[in-house]
Amino acid sequence: METRVLPFTDEAIAEAARLVLAGEPVAVPTETVYGLAADATKAEAVARIYEAKGRPSFNPLIIHVIDLDAAKRIGLFDAAAEKLAEQHWPGPLTLVLPVRRDAGTASIVTAGLPTVGIRVPAHPAMQALLRAVSRPLAAPSANASGAISSTQADHVLKSLGGRIPLIIDGGPTERGLESTIVAATGGTLRLLRPGPLQIDALMDNSGGAIEAPGQMASHYAPSKPVRLGATSAAAGEYLIGFGEIAGDETLSSTGNLVEAAARLFDLLHQADSSDKPRIAVAPVPDTGLGLAINDRLRRAAA
Ligand code: TXA
Ligand code: MG
Repeated sequence: METRVLPFTDEAIAEAARLVLAGEPVAVPTETVYGLAADATKAEAVARIYEAKGRPSFNPLIIHVIDLDAAKRIGLFDAAAEKLAEQHWPGPLTLVLPVRRDAGTASIVTAGLPTVGIRVPAHPAMQALLRAVSRPLAAPSANASGAISSTQADHVLKSLGGRIPLIIDGGPTERGLESTIVAATGGTLRLLRPGPLQIDALMDNSGGAIEAPGQMASHYAPSKPVRLGATSAAAGEYLIGFGEIAGDETLSSTGNLVEAAARLFDLLHQADSSDKPRIAVAPVPDTGLGLAINDRLRRAAA
């Protein structure tokens, strides 16, 4: 299959909508990472996502909708979930909620779970596609299963080229890390995946480990070994720097965590395609956005 890359324009969205309505998955930028979007109401269309990514079928997908009203037709909101949605949508927050019986989405999207992950994305390209198809879109990150996420159209092409018909190129994504996932299923809020939004204060994490079914120990993995907490490069290492540790390239020379999050996956891609056989990464503080960055780094190194 030939994979076309089109810049984000009205015509490109019209073409993406045509493909989605014909049951094909297309790659579209969101404010977090590029997503691989398909019609969430058609099991066959969703199955093509799993096929293109080579994703284990037990791993549920996030459903993207245009607004809170559309989300309420799919998931059951309690007061706490509704408040979070009102505060942070559109934006990089996914809510895991009990799925409604009459949601109309294919059960393959939730991998048979009684819950569903939903988010309202802030990126104009994903919003335009949602409007054009006027139906919910299932969209995991647009990368081969287990591999580094895509924050640029190039990354998608490298990972999924030949397996999907179209990539909408909206340039580098703003946040660079996947959405924060919060479960609002049992009367409490639980953080399932740290991300760009830090809303930990609201969480009851007494229940123990952070867990989303897709949060495998090894994830976001380059093809080379990764060493964390490196203060200098050993022989054969491509060093990704941070703050005072310069490296071959740096996440942020000023130690800015927002910049570091936005550059993380691109630098992992660059390190992976360099001529050095190993990758090392400078320490990133485990505070604020650093928690989400270190979560991704630990899985990349596992
Ligand atoms: O920012 C994002 O969230 C990006 C963009 C494209 O929206 N999407 C994304 O999707 O990161 P994905 O499939 O790569 O990660 C979704 C995560 C997985 O770890 C999955 O297990 C979890 O969300 N998830 C989805 N539905 C769930 C559910 N019902 N219960 C628990 N976890 C769920
Ligand atoms: Mg992913």
